[in-house]
Amino acid sequence: MHSRRSLLYVPGDDRRKIEKALTFGADCICLDMEDGVAQNRKVEARSIIAAALRELNFSASERLVRINPVGSGPEAEDIESALSSRPDGIVLPKVESLEQIQWASGKIETAELAHGWTLGSIRLIVDVETAKGMLALKEIASHNRLDALIFGAEDYAVSIGAVRTVDAREVFTARSLVLLHAKAFGLQAIDMVTVDYRDIERVRREALFGAQLGYTGKQVIHPAQVGPVQEAFTPDDESIEKAKRLVEAFEAHQKEGKGAFGLDGQMIDLPLVKAAQNVLERASAARKVQK
Ligand code: COA
Ligand code: MG
Repeated sequence: MHSRRSLLYVPGDDRRKIEKALTFGADCICLDMEDGVAQNRKVEARSIIAAALRELNFSASERLVRINPVGSGPEAEDIESALSSRPDGIVLPKVESLEQIQWASGKIETAELAHGWTLGSIRLIVDVETAKGMLALKEIASHNRLDALIFGAEDYAVSIGAVRTVDAREVFTARSLVLLHAKAFGLQAIDMVTVDYRDIERVRREALFGAQLGYTGKQVIHPAQVGPVQEAFTPDDESIEKAKRLVEAFEAHQKEGKGAFGLDGQMIDLPLVKAAQNVLERASAARKVQK
């Protein structure tokens, strides 16, 4: 699975911003047809995105396109246009049922067959961001084309009539539910946007808390957010060293026939070893250590 610590949105009707977006080393670049694009620019966005995908070099960044919600009207033309330039994945917003995912997956499969692309190679990522979407999480997360779930806090707050606050307690239950379902189905979990893009300390704090909850990445909307977010989702050197020592000590104790043991005054048994292995996995996904 592609590493998705930072998923950078770019309004799909803005070629200049798209070109600029390629220069920040974001793990994923998501060319948006949905809420980042004005209603009267939707058609332009389609052709600008198709041309950008054909003409520009995205280097190691994953090439994603977010279409308009299934059932909103433009989605069929959106997805056909996006697929014609073979993106790495489609992002589906405001998902509320398995049928919507089946619809998109069917369109993708048709394109894969028509072009002779490997079946299943174009991934689908869904944005769960409404009250109804939360209730359907179990069926939504079960679809086998999915790689990741995204939590959309702003739309979710609107859907339940909540007022957004800095500490985000009003969206915490939903934020946890999206995470829980992602983990239960082996998917990546991509956390909410920090809309206040001038406050770098805030995005850093919010990203670190997301990582502590178990999120594997975060949506970003401004170049200045990419670095701090990638850092928050990459284990630091001290955690990596600690995790390596722990795993080594565990292996040595296993050979001696000891399950639980003490290390630096802390009891170590299997859950802590697994947590350390998680740290090493995340470091490896961020290319910080060789597996
Ligand atoms: N992708 C690529 N480049 C971006 C960018 C983005 N998401 N956001 C800002 N930039 C560029 C700007 O074009 C500007 O470039 P310049 O110096 O060459 O003119 C530079 O980064 C600094 O931007 P800044 O002036 O601080 O912000 P802005 O007023 O140009 O843009 C937003 C602010 C919020 C409109 C912009 O960040 C944006 O469009 N974000 C994405 C919105 C979106 O897609 N929303 C839907 C998903 S939630
Ligand atoms: Mg949204």
